[in-house]
Amino acid sequence: MSEQYKAPFEEQLNNCQQHINNKLMAAFSSLPFLDSPLATAMQHGAVLGGKRLRPFLVYAVGEMFGLSKESLDAPAIALECIHAYSLIHDDLPAMDNDDLRRGQPTCHIKFGEDHAILAGDALQSLAFEILAKQEIPNVALSDRLAMIAELATSSGIAGMCGGQSLDLEAEGKQIDLAALEQIHRHKTGALIRCAVRLGAYGAGTRGHEALPWLDQYAQAIGLAFQVHDDILDVIGDTKIIGKRQGNDQQLGKSTYPALLGLEQAQKKAKDLYKDAIAALTELENQSYNTVTLKQLAGFIIERNS
Ligand code: IPE
Ligand code: IPE
Ligand code: MG
Ligand code: MG
Ligand code: MG
Repeated sequence: MSEQYKAPFEEQLNNCQQHINNKLMAAFSSLPFLDSPLATAMQHGAVLGGKRLRPFLVYAVGEMFGLSKESLDAPAIALECIHAYSLIHDDLPAMDNDDLRRGQPTCHIKFGEDHAILAGDALQSLAFEILAKQEIPNVALSDRLAMIAELATSSGIAGMCGGQSLDLEAEGKQIDLAALEQIHRHKTGALIRCAVRLGAYGAGTRGHEALPWLDQYAQAIGLAFQVHDDILDVIGDTKIIGKRQGNDQQLGKSTYPALLGLEQAQKKAKDLYKDAIAALTELENQSYNTVTLKQLAGFIIERNS
């Protein structure tokens, strides 16, 4: 069989962004009170911009097992809704107090804190509604249920919310590297690991069997993602990152550059990249095509936004 043409990584990512925007717009178009402040705030938080890396990861893992995008649209959009909610709440004055996100005024600046809180809440509910109700072709009901449980665990106290709480507790304090790693693995790593797992669950038994290696990969890129996000807060350009550079330092956040210095933080990101690549070796030995996952790991530590 001839090798199917595969677009370069950046083109694949652009296509995924378009695809997710369309799917999100379709999901929003069926909401009640579409022109209400709440629905407008939800769309502002979810639709305008965003790299869509988590959905990309869901599809990339699924593709390894031969799954079509269609079979993973529901989990991909649901996860992106949770991510959008986490960003809206992360930017609130009570948390990171940011006024710029994805090059736009943050949700609370534009719609008020009241509607920003509600927009986050309603995006979270919408995520679970989509994952429970939307058609998921060729995926068993038991795997859909596993996806719902995974998304709940990864976004709650054992995952993203737990990490966000630790992050806030550590503001203005000296913490050690182990504590920082714990924060990052939860606040950011958990949803990235969730993306990988959602893609694998779509593939049923084969996906479940590959989880030990996929988890190692996910944990490495999940931590690398937040280490690089910390680095961008130091060396990024506000116009390109779309959020205010230097905010972590201003808030006294515990970050990798703050604890290790910029150079060691960059080295840490590279080491994690190598761990991610190593984790894929066993899957390659089992004849899985891991090219896209490797490219994604590289993108995570090289991106400028
Ligand atoms: C930002 O995530 C928040 C972190 C977890 C560091 P992304 O960098 O994926 O944000 P968008 O979705 O592309 O805006
Ligand atoms: C946020 O981490 C992680 C979540 C939103 C869960 P950051 O606070 O570093 O994210 P940015 O830099 O504001 O995007
Ligand atoms: Mg934060
Ligand atoms: Mg923040
Ligand atoms: Mg940050």
